[in-house]
Amino acid sequence: MASVLRAEGISKSFGPIEVLKDISLDLQAGEVHAVIGENGAGKSTLMRILSGHLLPSQGALLLDGVPVRFSGPVEAEAQGIVLVHQEILLAEDLTVAENVFLGREIKRLGFVDDRTMRDKTRAILNDLGAVIDPDTHVRNLSIADRQLVQIARALLVPHRVVAFDEPTAVLTPVEAESLFAIIRKLREQNVAVLYISHRLNEVKAIADRVTVLRDGRLVTNRDIEGLEPLEMARLMVGRDMSKLYPEKPAGASADTVLAVRDFTVPGHVTRASFSLRRGEILGFGGLIGAGRTELFESLLGLRAGHGSITLHGASIRFKDAREAMAAGIVYLSEDRKGKGLLLQQNLRVNLTLAALEKFTRASLMDRGAEEGALDKAIQDFDIRARRRDMLAGQLSGGNQQKLLLAKMMLAEPQIVIIDEPTRGVDIGTKQQIYSFIASLAQEGRSVIVISSEMQELIGLCHRVLVMRNGQIAGEVEGNRLTEDAIVFLATGVHEERAAEIAAGHV
Ligand SMILES: Nc1ncnc2c1ncn2[C@@H]1O[C@H](COP(=O)(O)OP(=O)(O)OP(=O)(O)O)[C@@H](O)[C@H]1O
Ligand SMILES: [Mg+2]
Repeated sequence: MASVLRAEGISKSFGPIEVLKDISLDLQAGEVHAVIGENGAGKSTLMRILSGHLLPSQGALLLDGVPVRFSGPVEAEAQGIVLVHQEILLAEDLTVAENVFLGREIKRLGFVDDRTMRDKTRAILNDLGAVIDPDTHVRNLSIADRQLVQIARALLVPHRVVAFDEPTAVLTPVEAESLFAIIRKLREQNVAVLYISHRLNEVKAIADRVTVLRDGRLVTNRDIEGLEPLEMARLMVGRDMSKLYPEKPAGASADTVLAVRDFTVPGHVTRASFSLRRGEILGFGGLIGAGRTELFESLLGLRAGHGSITLHGASIRFKDAREAMAAGIVYLSEDRKGKGLLLQQNLRVNLTLAALEKFTRASLMDRGAEEGALDKAIQDFDIRARRRDMLAGQLSGGNQQKLLLAKMMLAEPQIVIIDEPTRGVDIGTKQQIYSFIASLAQEGRSVIVISSEMQELIGLCHRVLVMRNGQIAGEVEGNRLTEDAIVFLATGVHEERAAEIAAGHV
């Protein structure tokens, strides 16, 4: 196979922070080449360099064996190299077709040819298996659909190299399958594909070769043949990953700490009832949109709802998350960027924000105590910050999650509610978060984990409640806690089938 694009000895620093060190990678026509590594390993930075969005501090790129230096992404695109970014970068107030053709509009007799652009957009989205109207404003699209529009935009350019930076993080399994079909087609057409994902099973299924990065350095480039996901994880993290889940703590005591009865969130949840025991890890499963997040937002006073809440035997109602925290309940929202951290502030400010009274002496902030708390948080939660004075927004995703956990724990809660604890987080950090959750339960605190990842619920929780269409559809625990059981409850397939049988259709 011919080498299309080669990186030789690439290094990249942002000011004093060195993010990539001496990386070489050889990309061949007709291969799918995965790049894997922990959060912050430098994958996106490397993709941005290969596609002309960033210049390397050192090293060279060679296209067909000839040294090139891209002044920007437009120059790289002209050579057929395109990147589908990890973040969504579309103009919300333009239509889908306008976004796809932005900066490269088709003209006919000097006029912008809307109709052709619309037809081409529809055709390419169709290939992607997406049902999206080219005339809709991007503002009205779900995140998954926006990602598909970004992919369509990239594929529109005549391409020889296509880089996908975590394309499936926001896609449903069906959408991801259509994307894999496209990737396989690209490979048949002799296009070189770069592919980043934290889902190692997916990497195993789609890639021919894999490059592993750790802390900005190259660990290995090798064929995927004979490389299993567990070994990939070990190469990424540098330690054995065969035990992803900790032992489940001895188990819940009989006392109920929280009881919710007939709780309704208009438009989202109907009469949900459940209880939580001391020392228990209780999971909430279900499909996206089943009402789990809305239920907890409402219980914590973040949205309207009614029903009864009993905390340690006394009836209670929260006006907001602050009141809940005062009562010993913390809630970590799924949208950590929007709600959890002040991205433009440093780590210390973020850490102590929710527990300022602890760091105040005679109405003055005790800076020494704050710094001490930051030391302890960095150590306890293994927060990988290249500098102590970094802004929270400069941490990688997984490390932001760890900072948020550290912040919440300063409030010494009795009940911790975590929504999607490991979304977009690498496998090493996942293991740390799981063992942290288990240690909370071991200490006699209670934890509620809301997750769309069934393996996570099964590996971590004592008991799992499954929601469907705004209702608690059922509960599984012990050795009945299986993927099949959760899927049946989440989708209702089981019941439908029972109904079919009863109606004599089978
Ligand atoms: N503009 C910047 N200034 C300073 N540091 C930066 C900048 N951009 C990225 N970094 C740092 O570079 C490192 C690599 O970041 P990068 O986004 O490439 O990681 P990644 O492997 O893509 O991680 P993830 O899996 O979380 O997407 C991180 O430590 C990040 O904090
Ligand atoms: Mg990245």
